[in-house]
Amino acid sequence: MCGIVGFAGKTDAVSVLLDGLEKLEYRGYDSAGVAVVSQDGRLQIKKSKGRLAVLREQLSKSEPIEGNIGISHTRWATHGEPNDINAHPHTGENGKIAVVHNGIIENYLEIKQFLINEGVTFYSDTDTEVIAQLLDYYYKQNSDITECVYKVLNRIRGAYALGIICSDCPDKLIAARKDAPLLIGYGENSNFIASDVTALLAYTRTVSYMDDNEVAVITPDSVTVYDADKNVIEKEKHTVEWDVSAAEKGGYRHFMLKEITEQPEAIAKTVNPRMKDGRICFEELAENPDFLKDVSKIYIIACGSAYHVGMVGKYTLEKLLKIPTEACLASEFRYCDPLVDENTLAIVISQSGETLDSMAAMREAKKRGAKVISLVNVIGSSIARESDIVLYTWAGPEIAVATTKAYSTQLVLLTMFAVYYSDILGIITESEYVSFMRELELLPSKVSEILKDTEKYQEAAARFFNHDSVFFIGRNLDYALGLEGSLKLKEISYIHSESYAAGELKHGTISLIEPGTLVVSLATYAPLIEKTASNVVEVQSRGAEVLTIATQSNAEKLKTKKENSFTVPDTDPLLQPNLGVIPLQLFAYYVALNRGCDIDKPRNLAKSVTVE
Ligand code: G6P
Repeated sequence: MCGIVGFAGKTDAVSVLLDGLEKLEYRGYDSAGVAVVSQDGRLQIKKSKGRLAVLREQLSKSEPIEGNIGISHTRWATHGEPNDINAHPHTGENGKIAVVHNGIIENYLEIKQFLINEGVTFYSDTDTEVIAQLLDYYYKQNSDITECVYKVLNRIRGAYALGIICSDCPDKLIAARKDAPLLIGYGENSNFIASDVTALLAYTRTVSYMDDNEVAVITPDSVTVYDADKNVIEKEKHTVEWDVSAAEKGGYRHFMLKEITEQPEAIAKTVNPRMKDGRICFEELAENPDFLKDVSKIYIIACGSAYHVGMVGKYTLEKLLKIPTEACLASEFRYCDPLVDENTLAIVISQSGETLDSMAAMREAKKRGAKVISLVNVIGSSIARESDIVLYTWAGPEIAVATTKAYSTQLVLLTMFAVYYSDILGIITESEYVSFMRELELLPSKVSEILKDTEKYQEAAARFFNHDSVFFIGRNLDYALGLEGSLKLKEISYIHSESYAAGELKHGTISLIEPGTLVVSLATYAPLIEKTASNVVEVQSRGAEVLTIATQSNAEKLKTKKENSFTVPDTDPLLQPNLGVIPLQLFAYYVALNRGCDIDKPRNLAKSVTVE
């Protein structure tokens, strides 16, 4: 989704801005642009449809644009098709002010009409141009740019992260935020804004996160943040621990493969700090012993792969806590008039911590009285800050759009939470607990074991990459896992795929099975292996090609060709999805590779979806 980088310094802004935008490319975008103010007060803008490379080429071919203050943007089109004109930055009629914007202005048509009536001519189809033109309109009446920004903010409705520069203020960058992420970076003789911390890692690790309705005035030597009433506020500064190399490919062909390979380490980072003397320890919860009291209902709220973690969690939490648990798509939950009260626990799962639907659903749950725990990867993100308790996954930056290590760490963290809570409730037995802990400790090495031999996935991918439809089947935890396997495949390879609860097959889907159809059967959930085995026979007898993912102890029960049979080590049943997902990720990756897809940046998708 859209990315913002802004710079106020004493050196060339363009190179910093382009470098920052490059780090945000992974978010998904269709056009890019940059604007700088030169020392002699000229506003210069370059923008173009397509990848950043196109913008770089344009910049190299034309008169260089120079300045020490600037803003830049990668756009993921919402209002108006992706083209040079709709790309950001946008300006007002007198060409003095430039604006970059993430989010959506809901009342833009109404303001646009007002400005048209005032004689303003619009050049783009975007909602963002309305902000630039409205700023321009107020600036003609009062040349205090910060004042004008406040006037605009009072008039617009919707979500925004804004970066603004004005040619009359060649040392000033203004930022504002509401419901869209924006952070400030503090450097030496330079300060920054960015929608995502990865854009700034090469320049600074000291950041503060802007909150809703705040406005920041940034110069090379100072940062002043104001609240909605123009009072100066002190922002807390945070040190970002992620290192630069974590956000770089490090010799791998794709970020996705790098991140798949990083999973043993990422899981260890999530798990190890929370294991103390053979027990699970959540300091965040230990400090609030009453927090988990009297919970009578649990909603797990998330989008995409994080929702699939929630689906696994539904089975795990109900089994371990005996508390009714529902996994909900955030986009549905927020509008379904959910039955929430003060005995409801909402667990919000989000890698980015910025997914708009997840955030809105969380606010809805909170408003109705729920206690909220979030499982988040990005430190200091909005969901992390707004939840009552945050459990971080500590997976490090995830760059590929299709999540892998974030999914795995969310999964293990949620399972650990379930076991921890079950222990508090006195439900899990001591021997079950001890056996879980033993397997938890071994989990990273078991994941490594699967990753040692990727050749068989490459071979299978080479055999199946031409299929145009794939079905995933499984039961219970394997059903939840199949949802993720299917999503991974369709996201990056563009093959149509669906995941079904295996028992549901004969209620419709089986009619789609014909000779040669590929069915991926998940058989890692021991208690239901026999049932899954009969579903495999059902599709095989209708000519399907079956590829199975089973535990070593169950593999023989499924009569599939040797070359189509992948095994994963046995572990505690609660942790089995953490192993089962690895072959699914590798298979999807190699299929997409065979099809020549843009694996890290699949078409139309964005890493962090900050619009509804
Ligand atoms: C996007 C990403 C998915 C991710 C989902 C939720 O659709 O492409 O990989 O699972 O958003 O994102 P979140 O940051 O909330 O986990």
